[in-house]
Amino acid sequence: MRRRVIGSILDSIMGLSMMAVTAGSMMASPALAASPETGAARFSALGCGGCHAVTKPDPGMTIAQRVARKGPDLWFAGSKLRADWLKGWLPAPKAISGIRYDRLAPETNPPAHPAAPAKDVPDLTAYLMSLTDPEMPTGVVPRERPEPVGMLQGRILFSREQQCFACHRLETRAGVEAGGITGPSLEDAGRRLNPDWVYAYLVDPRRYVPVPRMPVYFGTVYSDYGKAEMLTLARYLETLAP
Ligand code: HEC
Ligand code: HEC
Repeated sequence: MRRRVIGSILDSIMGLSMMAVTAGSMMASPALAASPETGAARFSALGCGGCHAVTKPDPGMTIAQRVARKGPDLWFAGSKLRADWLKGWLPAPKAISGIRYDRLAPETNPPAHPAAPAKDVPDLTAYLMSLTDPEMPTGVVPRERPEPVGMLQGRILFSREQQCFACHRLETRAGVEAGGITGPSLEDAGRRLNPDWVYAYLVDPRRYVPVPRMPVYFGTVYSDYGKAEMLTLARYLETLAP
């Protein structure tokens, strides 16, 4: 008798924990949660891979190979871009740069980017966020807004010492959109880009863009800046968001 009571108590505990297990696996089921695997399948089915590379290119890309690329590499998308930005942009993409990606000379009116079907956006986002650069240091750039002196240093580097705005659009303090169209717009850099990636990119642009069109500011070739200046710029860009 006693054994049966204990047995039925055990049964109900087991039953409860089985229910918990079932509920847990239902929550993790692909129908409810975004899945990078489904995202990868949708990425190829939608033809995204026709324009975007998702594996790191071999070193030594030629200019002809660069021009043959239709869109930016996405092998480090999860290190570069933010999930919330992707979720908003993929179903309703707006031009980021003002010139065609597959031209080296300026040619305006790039074709509109294909919109991803809304139902695929969570899986595509999970997939793109899973594509990271394992060698990129993280936790390098502080997320807080810099002190006024840091903001000033950033502004001086970006707009006085260098004319970054000659190629990059941004919103001025007066709320006016200004700047060139050769490079990607930086007006919402603080929402679109991961500051650790911005820093890694400014220190070693060729790692991410093997045939760059942007001057390399880090090092002695062009401007003789060090890591401190690149950090100041990364922190400054993090504050840009309309
Ligand atoms: C016809 C070529 C083409 C196809 C197809 C295409 N893309 Fe793109 N994609 C581009 C170009 C070009 C850009 C750069 C746009 C700009 O700078 O304005 C871009 C930009 C992006 C970006 C931003 C990358 C960054 O680093 O800023 C993401 C993310 C992206 N595409 C994802 C996708 C996904 C997902 C699909 C499939 C649903 C897709 N693309 C299909 C050409 C393409
Ligand atoms: C001569 C034009 C030019 C100037 C000047 C320039 N850039 Fe760029 N920048 C580009 C282009 C073009 C790209 C896209 C990558 C490439 O093709 O090299 C880019 C990419 C970037 C990116 C990555 C954005 C993205 O979405 O991929 C950042 C961040 C950036 N530049 C910051 C800067 C900063 C900071 C300065 C000034 C210190 C600067 N740029 C000056 C042309 C320029």
